[in-house]
Amino acid sequence: MQNPIIAALDVPTAEQALKLAMEVAPAVGAFKIGKELFVAAGPDIVKRVRDTGTSVFLDLKFHDIPNTVAKAVASAVRLDVQMLTIHTCGGSAMMRGAEDAAQQTALQSGKNAPLVLGVTVLTSHDANTLGEIGCEANVGKQVERLAQLAVQSGLRGLVCSPLEIVDLRQLLPANIQLVTPGIRTGAEKSDDQKRTLTPREAMDAGANWLVIGRPIYAAENPRVAAEKILQSLR
Ligand code: C5P
Repeated sequence: MQNPIIAALDVPTAEQALKLAMEVAPAVGAFKIGKELFVAAGPDIVKRVRDTGTSVFLDLKFHDIPNTVAKAVASAVRLDVQMLTIHTCGGSAMMRGAEDAAQQTALQSGKNAPLVLGVTVLTSHDANTLGEIGCEANVGKQVERLAQLAVQSGLRGLVCSPLEIVDLRQLLPANIQLVTPGIRTGAEKSDDQKRTLTPREAMDAGANWLVIGRPIYAAENPRVAAEKILQSLR
């Protein structure tokens, strides 16, 4: 079994991120670098986290004209990331451009192409938010529509909420990788995640990867917390 734990490095400085990464690297499959850390610490943080020997998931959720997104993806491949995110509402040309850029740049630089993951409807959005931006569909239908468009556009993976896994598994080809946040073990304090699954439940529902932030980085001992989660999956 590949280690499916992606530990989110949701900390504000390079020093904190590297301390956490070095501590938990042996117990996780990848680290997620998001906007907060990337904007504060710059691209160099990707290289330094990669030096721990662990994969990097660059979660910057690109959404722009196809040419700009393709170039951003190419830059991410040169930084040696293994997973990255784009918004599926950027449309099919943008998604195809991103996937092509990932494949071609990887080929040119002798690397494996990263998994380009599509983000569908943000979990902070509801029917009102979709209405505000002129989208009539309900959230579930819009998630399905964007997920299918992503697959038709050549993407090989999606980010989804834990409660979407079962439906998307039925809808999409079996080789599509599903990455899910919203994971809670039950041991941590309650926080802003409302709809959660345990790591075991999410994997059983059909997830391939689990994005886990606070249950690891806010634990008293992050390494032990990650090891316990891994044990729960074996
Ligand atoms: O601390 P926690 O486990 O909630 O962190 C989850 C990570 O996944 C955070 O980096 C958060 O931004 C991200 N995420 C999320 N919910 C989404 C999409 C991303 O929690 N719908």
